[in-house]
Amino acid sequence: MFRPIRGMKDLYGTEINKYNFIIDKARHIGEKYGYSIISTPMVEYTDVFQRSIGDETDVVSKEMYTFLDKGGESITLRPEGTAGVMRAIVTESMTQNFPIKFMYYGEMFRYDRPQKGRYRQFHQLGFEHVGEKSPYTDALLISMASEILNAIGIFDFKIDLNTLGDDKTREGYTRGLVKYLSRHEENLSEDSKRRLQKNPLRILDSKDEEDRKICSMAPIITDYLSKESGQYFEKLCDLLSSYGINYEINSFLVRGLDYYSETAFEFKPTGEGYRDSVGGGGRYDKLLKIFGGPDASGIGFAFGIERLMLLLDDAKFSRCIKKIAVVPVSENENDSAFDLIRTLHNCDIAAEFIQHGNLSKKMKTADRKNCEIALIIGEEEYQNGTLTVKFMNLTNESRKTKVVNRNDIVNFLKYSLE
Ligand code: HAM
Repeated sequence: MFRPIRGMKDLYGTEINKYNFIIDKARHIGEKYGYSIISTPMVEYTDVFQRSIGDETDVVSKEMYTFLDKGGESITLRPEGTAGVMRAIVTESMTQNFPIKFMYYGEMFRYDRPQKGRYRQFHQLGFEHVGEKSPYTDALLISMASEILNAIGIFDFKIDLNTLGDDKTREGYTRGLVKYLSRHEENLSEDSKRRLQKNPLRILDSKDEEDRKICSMAPIITDYLSKESGQYFEKLCDLLSSYGINYEINSFLVRGLDYYSETAFEFKPTGEGYRDSVGGGGRYDKLLKIFGGPDASGIGFAFGIERLMLLLDDAKFSRCIKKIAVVPVSENENDSAFDLIRTLHNCDIAAEFIQHGNLSKKMKTADRKNCEIALIIGEEEYQNGTLTVKFMNLTNESRKTKVVNRNDIVNFLKYSLE
């Protein structure tokens, strides 16, 4: 038996209904905020990710699907969307048109340990606002993200918010952090010991129990903020409060990728069930330069679509489109049924031609295909120019079936499906 690769799954039925619902809502809201869609390749030269996300991150050091192609080039399946979008902005010479706002959705790949809400192939829905830096921009982006969550029916979540400050802030903070962590060096994990020299901020993102305990007493970045970064963050907090957006300052939030500076945030569900971060993002000041672009700042975030799907109610998404079953009683009515199907499709009505088995089997098939209404054509209906309409979900026998004139069927269905 063939199986999908571990951590990768087929999306269909209820799951794909949820996926499409999320994308539809997000596209609508994104357009309102001025975002247009970009689709970048799923594979890039390895450097695109390595240089932007950072060598010391788990994503680059452990989780990338990296291969040599037939020409001997090192290529990588994208583990996230931001790097590809920045690369595209530079290679497509879009940098004259700042600010640029792009949204994207699609497959991402990380070779992580699979578990609930964590897959090796997953989908992200991301937004990038590039070439504009102000607390207003950040507040609008975070409010858009909250609006998307609300629009898909997610209300129980909190926003963890932090600032990683500017270069000056991080220099001072890194010194303070290294001084503190060096005192606990022998108890740090091997990864963190190495990172102490190379990239100490990463230690704050460690998943190791002992590292976490040590980090919980570490100095916090907000005590090291430069005047500019302090004012920027304060203004952002004021704006979010005045928008009525609830956030909590989490001074240890550094995010899992190296490119962030200033604003950083994550969305965490607070209801029953899945509790891990469903999305996150932040500001980046150096990404465009890494790709040879100008010295311009951007901000963005991405939701994990599977994680959002975990928070949506299955029952609501098992039947999405209201479908009609066209059921000929015998083969003699097949041509007439075929004709009817074409009429319905031309009028934009979702309809299935149920062809095989006896009438009882056909009705079971219609039910399995989640049809709301069956249109039955037998010899009598054919002779009289009528159809027997059966409402599949009604239990009241007197309302369950109706005879409708075939010429009136489109209007009848449009009214019944509202
Ligand atoms: P990230 O936090 O690495 O950020 O990923 C964003 C979201 O993708 C996570 O919050 C999570 O919901 C989802 N995700 C990540 N890994 C997995 C996985 N293995 N399985 C399922 N879902 C997953 C970024 O990727 C940044 N590019 C976001 C960003 C955009 N920052 C600025 N602009």
